Amino acid sequence: MDDDPVVETGFTSRTAVEPPEPFVEQANVDESDVAAFDASWPECWRRAADLLEWETPTDEVIDRTGDRVSWFPDGRLNAAYNCVDRHLAERKNQAAIKWVGKRGETRTYTYLDLYHEVNEFAAALRSLGIEADDVVTLYMPAIPELPVAMLACARIGAPHNVVFAGFSAQALAERMDRAGSELLVTCDGYYRRGNAVHQKNKADNARIMASQEVSDIVVVDRLGDEEVHLGDGYHDYDELVADHHGAEVEPVTREADDELFVIYTSGTTGQPSGIRHTTGGYLAHAAWTSHAVLDLKPDDTYWCSADIGWITGHTYLVYGPLALGTTTMLYEGVPDHPEKDRVWELIERNAVDVFYTAPTAIRAFIKWGADHPDAHDLSSLRLLGTVGEPINADAWWWYYEHVGNGECPIVDTWWQTETGSILVSTVPGVDEMKPGSAGPPLPGIDATVVDETGESVAPETGGYLTVTKPWPGMPLDLPADGEPDDEDWRYVTEDAARIDDDGYVTVLGRIDDTVTVQGHRLGTMELESAIADVEGVAEAAIVDVQTPGGGSTVHAFVSTDEGHKGVDGLRERITANVERTIGSFATPGVVVFTPELPKTRSGKLLRRLLKDIASGQELGDTSALRNPEIVGEIESALDGE
Ligand code: WT7
Repeated sequence: MDDDPVVETGFTSRTAVEPPEPFVEQANVDESDVAAFDASWPECWRRAADLLEWETPTDEVIDRTGDRVSWFPDGRLNAAYNCVDRHLAERKNQAAIKWVGKRGETRTYTYLDLYHEVNEFAAALRSLGIEADDVVTLYMPAIPELPVAMLACARIGAPHNVVFAGFSAQALAERMDRAGSELLVTCDGYYRRGNAVHQKNKADNARIMASQEVSDIVVVDRLGDEEVHLGDGYHDYDELVADHHGAEVEPVTREADDELFVIYTSGTTGQPSGIRHTTGGYLAHAAWTSHAVLDLKPDDTYWCSADIGWITGHTYLVYGPLALGTTTMLYEGVPDHPEKDRVWELIERNAVDVFYTAPTAIRAFIKWGADHPDAHDLSSLRLLGTVGEPINADAWWWYYEHVGNGECPIVDTWWQTETGSILVSTVPGVDEMKPGSAGPPLPGIDATVVDETGESVAPETGGYLTVTKPWPGMPLDLPADGEPDDEDWRYVTEDAARIDDDGYVTVLGRIDDTVTVQGHRLGTMELESAIADVEGVAEAAIVDVQTPGGGSTVHAFVSTDEGHKGVDGLRERITANVERTIGSFATPGVVVFTPELPKTRSGKLLRRLLKDIASGQELGDTSALRNPEIVGEIESALDGE
């Protein structure tokens, strides 16, 4: 790092950075907005609702008298109308979605194009018997038909259930069953680093595995290079849309609290849990944070590099930017193909104004070298964002200097699938930035850090990050503590954090049994059982191990049955079973075979110890172990890795 200009100028991780003045002058939200917002809770949230067009405007902001909290309880609206129709008057010829395919091909949908295709596909869904409240599963990579299908579902009030395209047939079947979904929209296949992935084969297998009957499957022709045989119950997407050419479907009016979509995420149980987001509260919060934090304006070209299969893609690639009438980019490819400057080339060519990505991507960019961004004209950029995990100060500064040229604020946005939208971040035209710390809870959000007993801890003390007031983007069945109308209503986030004297939150990481694999949250139990099911495996323990660059690698410690010592293709069979049950993206980075796992006398597995061993930490007292001799064996097995 010696030749890094950032270090030379003497910045440290504790240095606060003022937002650049040119940005401040044009920011959507200024100090007086923040002060006004902070002055009145919950009334302040009306401002978020006002970013939308309501068929019945809401009288009440929040209702806490029932068995759950309801936002904008008497308001009625349609999400697709808000993301498409209402923009036609002013910007029907402006790009809504700019798509860049894997092979460099591009497709642009203006708001008018989007209007037509959403209507046509909504009519097609109806022709297949889909009505309001029927769940439709969408299983596609980053192709425009995915956001079109989401909006078509929203138009007719059918909640969508987007399943990340990298999930296996079994994982898809499980999510369709849990959601009670009868219709699946998928594609024939897609290209991954030049190779065709046969998505439809996975969908076919999921149809067989699902307990719930999947009556129809719609198939988008993505590969375009071969005739796909479509049997009974299969429909070609293009034909369906052509059959409904010119159709217009009246947007179905939804109550604010009606479900807009469900998305599955990993928790501490082996089962994925469905998070159901609402039409009014979620969309208002998505639009508000896109406006206040990402500073999006209708004229912007905006790029969120997340996959639509995760919550970031739902909120900040589709719903937030489209609700504001922005041009949103959708990129099907990977960041280093055909060359390692792909991202910078796309930003330059499309004159991207705002770029939102993950620390894991930034760390890869750093590894590939600053020459790549430095060789491109990135002066169109105005604001940068990160999400998904803590960003270390070095990576923050690299992003600030080499991508933002010291002229773009960075918003380090903390949120979760459960929160629907951003809850913690600096407001980019108002707050100073502290590299490594996400920032204060947003205006209208109250959060604290508590100890085991639920008491708030002193500043700078670690504890459990807890949200102490409801927020509009909260899902329908949030596992909150306390009655809806209680002063001490709480949502405990499963993250460890500390808060400094200025109220800035530094997120330390998850405290539950989940790990992040390539930026995706997975349950350790899901992974452990996918490994333990393999013949020859006795037990498995999954831990996330910090790497020096600020990232982490998932380690699987595997104890084997007598006779299996990591030979006989066991490693390959473990990989294959993870691929089969979850998907290849979930394969652990390191697999270590050991005769036994470290356990206490009472039989409790010591994951913490495994983590310390793998990261080369001082181990301290191991006397609680029933099998202390195992530590040495694991250390030498790791050395062999
Ligand atoms: C978990 C949520 C929210 C969309 C992406 C992941 C971690 C998220 C940050 C951040 C530190 C972060 C937390 C959180 N996380 N953003 N800016 N700084 N950690 O969604 O899969 O629901 O995971 O991601 O641990 O709990 P998710």
